[in-house]
Amino acid sequence: PVLVVDFGAQYAQLIARRVREANVYSEIVHHNITAAEVQAKNPAAIILSGGPSSVYETGSPQLDPELLELGIPVLGICYGFQVLAQTLGGRVDRTGKREYGATELKLNDSGVLLADQPSLQVCWMSHGDQVMEAPEGFKVLASTDTTPVAAFESQEKRIYGVQWHPEVKHSQQGQRVLENFLYRGAGIEPTWNSGNVIAEQVEKIRAQVGDARVICGLSGGVDSAVAAALVHRAVGDQLTAVFVDHGLLRQGEREQVERDYVAATGIRLTTVDAEEKFLTALAGVSDPETKRKIIGREFIRTFEQAERELVAEAQADNRPIKFLVQGTLYPDVVESGGGVTAGIKSHHNVGGLPEDLQFELVEPLRTLFKDEVRAIGAELGLPHEIVQRQPFPGPGLGIRIVGEVTKERLELLRAADAIVREELSAAGQDAEIWQCPVVLLADVRSVGVQGDGRSYGHPIVLRPVSSEDAMTADWSRLPYDLLARISNRITNEVSDVNRVVLDITSKPPGTIEWE
Ligand code: XMP
Repeated sequence: PVLVVDFGAQYAQLIARRVREANVYSEIVHHNITAAEVQAKNPAAIILSGGPSSVYETGSPQLDPELLELGIPVLGICYGFQVLAQTLGGRVDRTGKREYGATELKLNDSGVLLADQPSLQVCWMSHGDQVMEAPEGFKVLASTDTTPVAAFESQEKRIYGVQWHPEVKHSQQGQRVLENFLYRGAGIEPTWNSGNVIAEQVEKIRAQVGDARVICGLSGGVDSAVAAALVHRAVGDQLTAVFVDHGLLRQGEREQVERDYVAATGIRLTTVDAEEKFLTALAGVSDPETKRKIIGREFIRTFEQAERELVAEAQADNRPIKFLVQGTLYPDVVESGGGVTAGIKSHHNVGGLPEDLQFELVEPLRTLFKDEVRAIGAELGLPHEIVQRQPFPGPGLGIRIVGEVTKERLELLRAADAIVREELSAAGQDAEIWQCPVVLLADVRSVGVQGDGRSYGHPIVLRPVSSEDAMTADWSRLPYDLLARISNRITNEVSDVNRVVLDITSKPPGTIEWE
């Protein structure tokens, strides 16, 4: 692999993703990794990430200097570049001149790293200290108005560095810088792709599972759908999938799973009809957090019961269920500190499994980012609607009805939501927006006029947002004629709704969901 050494902040994950976009496999490791640990991983190259610290601060993250003597090609980025400069005997100063954001870069010498690039380009900077002198034997490749040494390299040592952030899309030639390093600097062949990930995972799953049985829960979302499909490809009918219909799904979601997904994969599926159970438990409840708790609790109970039945069945014919599939993704692994020692946790109580029942986990997506999971889903032939699905909360429509959740209100919201999704797709907006919650204000009524008479109905709120990661979001500037069409259709086609309003709040201060 290519090891991305994480010096903090959020850049390491982005770098790792860009390396994979260059068809080279990457892994993130903590900056306290030793040279010996690096060597044990036998990496094809090392990339030192940016980070929030200054190389001067006491306690700022350092690099094991021996790491630079292993003969492994190294690229330092931003903080990683300054660490390189400092470790190799260059000069880093705090000049008080900062550079943030889009910055013009001048190339003096393209070297290997900046080969075939325009001599003037815009790159994305974010730093306070400057590298004033390159280490001895290093060629200075580029500079900016405030930074005399913005990039350097030594082809002999195979060590390279840039002050800017090539992983950020605003850096015009960013991906080319990374690719120059990987292909030319480190001589790596770009052979990693979703096809060989599938082959590799299928082999791993077979080795792990043997002839035991496996179960998994399907939520209708991308991760569980792709994880289950991979396991099914590996072990076929040893896998049984469980889908809980809690009655809070959107229109067509159950059919997508039961019909389209099963047709595409051939998976053995058990659906549990639990609508009544959930609605009974939710009766009379309006408080959002209480709703969430009830839905979570009922979900676990329902899943557990289905599991117990399957386990009993399997034991009866002597082939016990030993494994549970989880759709854990790489960012979860990295964020929970598993980036350095990415060993598979073997025993775990997940998803509310009964205490006395321990499954070993199968986590075929543990090394993958979301966009890679989607690519693999497409490669496995899963329905487009599932692979490209926008985020949808686990508690479903239950937290999109402000007020008590009832069957009638769910039907109403489901109809309005279906109209919105249909119109957004038809207008080509699916790739533009992150998600678009449609919310029913069930406790609010307003006066309207419909036909010849006065109406007194509920408002529907549209909440289209753009976002990178749901942590922050902005409201989407949808075209007025699209909004007009949606509003017309909802008020005409959904009875008891006489008003459509648009939420124009960013996050923060508003959250994406209303509850
Ligand atoms: P908020 O409303 O906090 O939402 O801005 C951020 C993202 O999380 C989703 N969301 C949830 N997902 N269970 C989930 O699985 C929940 O209870 C839940 N609440 C919010 C939301 O759709 C958005 O993508």
